[in-house]
Amino acid sequence: MSQFPEFKEQTVLITGTSSGFGLLSAYHLAKAGYNIIASMRNLEKKSALLRMLEKDKLKERVTFVELDVTSQRSVDQLTAFLDKGNGVDVLINNAGFAFGGFSEEIHIDEYKEQFETNVFGVMRVTQAVLPFMREKRRGKIINISSISGLIGFPGLSPYVSSKHALEGYSESLRLELKPFGIDVALIEPGSYATNIWTTGKKVSKHSLNEGSPYHAYMRAIENELQAGEKNLGDPDQVVSLLLSLCNQSQIKKLRYPVGKGVKLSISVKRMLPWSVWERVIIKKLLK
Ligand SMILES: NC(=O)c1ccc[n+]([C@@H]2O[C@H](COP(=O)([O-])OP(=O)(O)OC[C@H]3O[C@@H](n4cnc5c(N)ncnc54)[C@H](OP(=O)(O)O)[C@@H]3O)[C@@H](O)[C@H]2O)c1
Repeated sequence: MSQFPEFKEQTVLITGTSSGFGLLSAYHLAKAGYNIIASMRNLEKKSALLRMLEKDKLKERVTFVELDVTSQRSVDQLTAFLDKGNGVDVLINNAGFAFGGFSEEIHIDEYKEQFETNVFGVMRVTQAVLPFMREKRRGKIINISSISGLIGFPGLSPYVSSKHALEGYSESLRLELKPFGIDVALIEPGSYATNIWTTGKKVSKHSLNEGSPYHAYMRAIENELQAGEKNLGDPDQVVSLLLSLCNQSQIKKLRYPVGKGVKLSISVKRMLPWSVWERVIIKKLLK
């Protein structure tokens, strides 16, 4: 992984560091010389990251903080922590999960739960760090979106709509903060081997029920996801991208797609007439 020494001694706050991209970026950024505020909603899960840090004598670079992004109280505690002089140079809004199922069968509270984490959680934590970054007129906010932020998939509308909302929020935020020297970026990963496809995923129990009118369609989607499991990318690719954005003096672009076939899928969707695009998707799933 590349390193640029002049940006060491900066502090990076990462949400959701108990597993996946969050855990790996906390470790690799600490290894690259950054000070890390590793936040997670359940500090009992810090042992995996702690073990990796201890092995490489990096423990002193990392401060663990309890943070549930869905709780304003928890975010207020973060603000109190930052108020004690613990500045943040880079915020990585990483915490998230995926909710699937067919829209008719998904309770509105399940949509709200998805948005509480993937959208309002990002907004809450961003609001907490902004006063500190704005005062310094310097900072980076990197939001982990998804290919699902640019392309809709059936059977995944809570996740897809939450990531589309994150895209719109980040676009506005970038334009608001540019004059204050704060760069906003979106990472748009394809499918990577993390817990999001196992413990990080929830599916509407109705759509998986054999009595559901969507059952066959949902099964086809689940089968497609299962078949794709062997092609899941190495999460280190995403971490490399994060590291390179942290190392740059300025983040020049808003969007950073990453992963096998991601750029191609985004371009093809943009180029094809919608009628052709939807025929291809539905035919692939309901062959
Ligand atoms: N992996 C992929 O293929 C992929 C593709 C595109 C985008 N992404 C995005 O990448 C981000 C990280 O996911 P991942 O793939 O690394 O999955 P992961 O291994 O499941 O990690 C998700 C992290 O988010 C945390 N989290 C969930 N809800 C939270 C909350 N309310 N407050 C604080 N932390 C919370 C989880 O904590 P717990 O351990 O406590 O649950 C966990 O640390 C997500 O935003 C996801 O949408 C992933």
